Amino acid sequence: MLPNNSCKVYLSGAMQLTCAYQVKSVISRQNKRVLKMMSEISSAVKNAIENFIVPKDVGFGTLISPVMIEANFKDNQWSDLQILPYGDITIPPTAKVFHYAQEIFEGLKAYKSPNGEALLFRPEQNAKRFNYSAKRMAMPETPEEMFLTACKTITMLSKRFIPEASGSSLYIRPFMFATEATLGIKPSSEFKFMVLASPSGSYFKAGGLNVFIERSAIRACPGGVGTAKTGGNYAASLLSSTKAIDHGCQQTLWLDAINHQKIEEMSGMNFMCIKNNKIITPELTDTILSGITRASVIELAKTEGYEVIERTIEIDELIDGVKSGEITEAFACGTAAIITPIEKFIEENGISYELPKLDTPISLKLRSHLLDIQEGRKEGPAGWSQIVD
Ligand code: COI
Repeated sequence: MLPNNSCKVYLSGAMQLTCAYQVKSVISRQNKRVLKMMSEISSAVKNAIENFIVPKDVGFGTLISPVMIEANFKDNQWSDLQILPYGDITIPPTAKVFHYAQEIFEGLKAYKSPNGEALLFRPEQNAKRFNYSAKRMAMPETPEEMFLTACKTITMLSKRFIPEASGSSLYIRPFMFATEATLGIKPSSEFKFMVLASPSGSYFKAGGLNVFIERSAIRACPGGVGTAKTGGNYAASLLSSTKAIDHGCQQTLWLDAINHQKIEEMSGMNFMCIKNNKIITPELTDTILSGITRASVIELAKTEGYEVIERTIEIDELIDGVKSGEITEAFACGTAAIITPIEKFIEENGISYELPKLDTPISLKLRSHLLDIQEGRKEGPAGWSQIVD
């Protein structure tokens, strides 16, 4: 399991103030490190930034900011972070990542506030999850400081490119991979850590999602790597995604590996549904990625007075609930997806189960609340939305 958030939110009175103060001073120390890195950028990086033009429609993850950050791990230590113009990298074909997939990544977002500030959402949580994934994949941890400095620096350098429309953002992609150039199957002794940024619009086109119920393939198995954010889990989802597309769906709904009954998650996001006005989401197991948006939605929903239950949901319960009308909503939640409502579930044989169209869905209320915090229109819990200026 992921370590708990070091700063608990919704404390009362003086404790809350102390906590907010600690969060602020850590953030401002961090921003000084970012400023120091920014003061050292090369003229090639400056030029790349100055000459970069952001087109009107950016899509998701297709336009890449003209800078990148990297550090290398060798002889048991990390080099300093380096800021480079975005470009190709040279890696030997024998690098272990190409053969044994020793790789991890993260996804986090920076939003533009109404005052024009860059706001990062809960980056410490990504730093922690990155290190959790690193441990599971026999990779070195990145000091939290290094991870956060890299994410904040790329945010600052890309600030001009953060799209302003609600739901758009700078999608930040930290990743690490094995670079040792030998073919033996053992953990690499050398790694590269990189951070890219992509000015991005919505991950999904407007409208509800169609979700394919995958009853044969599985994404993750007990004791496997399903809780780590490693490329292999996403590779394992791709064959099913082609089946999903053939069925008019944008996502796969994964079931457990043993009985193919328990709902786990979707390919790049967590799953929630609303049954009798209660929000239900699969409890975290060793086959489900612990989503930061998932945790944030649970916390926000509780403060809004909703009952949130983390428990097993079997696929039959979902289908029966949609048919009987007890389940009124279902939605995807994740960094890329934010909160995206599901319109229908589709079986391989073409049978589909459609959710009702509601005037004021709970999922959209939660989405607005979350975006209000992420985009700086409303105050959220201490430390969630962090100014990077
Ligand atoms: C994210 O939401 O950040 C993801 O990792 C999903 C996907 C875009 C890979």
